[in-house]
Amino acid sequence: MIAAMARNRVIGGKDGGIPWSLPRDSAHFRNYTAGKFMLLGRTTFEEMDGWFTTQTPVVLTRDFNFDVKEGFVADSVERAVSIAREQSASELVVSGGASIYQAALSFADELILTFVEAEVEGEHHFPGYEAVAKWEIVDEERFEADAENEFAMTFATLKRVIG
Ligand SMILES: NC(=O)c1ccc[n+]([C@@H]2O[C@H](COP(=O)([O-])OP(=O)(O)OC[C@H]3O[C@@H](n4cnc5c(N)ncnc54)[C@H](OP(=O)(O)O)[C@@H]3O)[C@@H](O)[C@H]2O)c1
Repeated sequence: MIAAMARNRVIGGKDGGIPWSLPRDSAHFRNYTAGKFMLLGRTTFEEMDGWFTTQTPVVLTRDFNFDVKEGFVADSVERAVSIAREQSASELVVSGGASIYQAALSFADELILTFVEAEVEGEHHFPGYEAVAKWEIVDEERFEADAENEFAMTFATLKRVIG
């Protein structure tokens, strides 16, 4: 799973969207997902209209008529994993939003998290991954805020070790 979250675990604003301007994190997200399959909730997929380049979206929805050009539709996380396997995807990167992180957490073996050093207002939160398994930080890099990036941030990679 890949996500950026504030200190209070907020990942999305009151009216949707990402509640900060952090081009460094946007570039990190684009680089990590390049050439990979991405699992997305229908809401986040619609927010990202026009964003996809080398990424293949697999969109979770309960709407059987929903159409994804140059991608796939799934009605469960299990089905999305099967699609990725059938397509010989190297990885299925769970990319939000909040309901998809919650639905996919038990399947995840790696978390690519950006810890944003701010308290931010919002209605969407990253789930409590610490409570469902033990995770080991295998990589971590911190960046100060600067002229383009309004908050400091840490990129971290966590691997599931127990649970
Ligand atoms: N900070 C980050 O890293 C990050 C990353 C991604 C998104 N976000 C933010 O997260 C927010 C959106 O989160 P959200 O929870 O409202 O929306 P979401 O997870 O993107 O999409 C919700 C939709 O996904 C479908 N869905 C959810 N669970 C499902 C299941 N178990 N089976 C089948 N379909 C399912 C439903 O679609 P239907 O209604 O079509 O059935 C549901 O309405 C936005 O603010 C976005 O910007 C933040």
